[in-house]
Amino acid sequence: MQIIRNLIKYVLDKIFPQSCFGKKIAAMTDKEQKKPSSPSNLVRVGSGLVNKLALLNPVTGESDEPILVGFEDVSAAAYRIRKGIKKTPCERSSMSETLNMDLYFKKEYLQHTGSFKERGARNTLLLLSKEQKKKGVIAASAGNHALALSYHGKDLGVPVTVVMPLNAPIMKISACRKHGATVHVNGADLIESKEIALKMAKANGLAYINGYDHPNILSGQGTLGLEIVEEVPDLDAVVIPVGGGGLLAGVAVAVKGLRPDVQIIGVESERCASFQAAMAAGHPVKIEANQSLTLADGLCVSKVGSNAFATATGMVDKVISVSEDFIALAILRLIEEEKAVVEGAGVTAFAAVLAGLLPELQAKKVVIPLCGGNIDSTVLGRCIDRGLAADGRLCRFIVTVSDRPGGIAELTRLLASMGASVKDIFHERAWLMSSVFSVQIKVVVEVRDQQHGLQVKEALELQYPDNLLWGLDSGLKDLTCKKTGI
Ligand SMILES: Cc1ncc(COP(=O)(O)O)c(C=O)c1O
Repeated sequence: MQIIRNLIKYVLDKIFPQSCFGKKIAAMTDKEQKKPSSPSNLVRVGSGLVNKLALLNPVTGESDEPILVGFEDVSAAAYRIRKGIKKTPCERSSMSETLNMDLYFKKEYLQHTGSFKERGARNTLLLLSKEQKKKGVIAASAGNHALALSYHGKDLGVPVTVVMPLNAPIMKISACRKHGATVHVNGADLIESKEIALKMAKANGLAYINGYDHPNILSGQGTLGLEIVEEVPDLDAVVIPVGGGGLLAGVAVAVKGLRPDVQIIGVESERCASFQAAMAAGHPVKIEANQSLTLADGLCVSKVGSNAFATATGMVDKVISVSEDFIALAILRLIEEEKAVVEGAGVTAFAAVLAGLLPELQAKKVVIPLCGGNIDSTVLGRCIDRGLAADGRLCRFIVTVSDRPGGIAELTRLLASMGASVKDIFHERAWLMSSVFSVQIKVVVEVRDQQHGLQVKEALELQYPDNLLWGLDSGLKDLTCKKTGI
């Protein structure tokens, strides 16, 4: 019953935003449930009810007890931010048939600053007190949250300061400055940057906005879930990338509020599985994580948010992790098949589908948000190479051939005859144990597909029996030439 009311209220609010229809439904819900007039904003503390946001420390934005975000918060946020946020398209993918599922991509990389983070940022800025809007806000972020706050702070006239770690991408630092934010590049990593930002918040009366855990951030992110249900009403599942957990929590509240039967699945990078660690412990715990080790740098949060975790608990069906090679492959597939440039953090959900980690979604209608597109061109180039390697379209091998005239030509002729294109070639003579008239050649070739790569491998094995090392693990020092006299 409650779900039907949520649905009716949400639809009425969208059609008649200024009318009292939505409010009437809400009031009816409140009365019938014997709850106060704005249940989602009030929580019981001791014997009385207080506004839950009043429990937040005004400087740190944190509270002693986790604050749960409710459906009412999300639908209110949708109305609040409707003018400043793009309603991004949610379109069926041409890969649906190949992957044997009705797959829809919600294209959040098309937001002004290239990510969904704008939803939470705008909602939070709009909910600041008049006084705080004048004083301004501060956040520690290496990327999308900083960009989102900078852009919407400028739009709404709220001063924004961001502290970005020393390893933050230059492109993101300069984009924040372009949007008028005061940018401090300080701190070896996000944890250090946060400590610096909190000190500055205290000293200057700024409000610290946690990009994955502030309750108003969570309800803003949840608006993505509302749009998904509106755009693909008969969906079976939503698969969501997980960093600090704010997006997962917000979307879960929104989607389950309208369609409790829809599966909500979270996907982390296996190099930073902090949400699964929290699930195992029953509360957020800090894990070892190094941002520079994962292509999904935006997801590298060593401890998930306590509000996010508490809100998501019981609403999320499962959380899994995906490996780096499939993250790279997902970036490549989206470029080739969807003409979409999506960053590592934004593709983990799709990477899990590509990796075959979600067989239960076969023949189902599945929505995946492509959460962000802010990727440095140099990193993109590397991701494409790694994606090609993971796809079996870039192969590397080491072969020992004759160093007499024509020895290397014979090798390249063979490759040419097979239609394999040489990308890199490197000769090594000094450390060979075999005949002085032999040379080791380390080669990277481009092939059409995995099958073609196997054909090239077989032809090389035939030509150079015992002298070929094929594959990813063939480091030069591992090569022992079994056959001498070449
Ligand atoms: C592109 C992208 N996708 C997904 C996420 C995950 O969001 P959350 O930290 O709320 O879990 C982030 C977080 O920064 C992100 O930048």
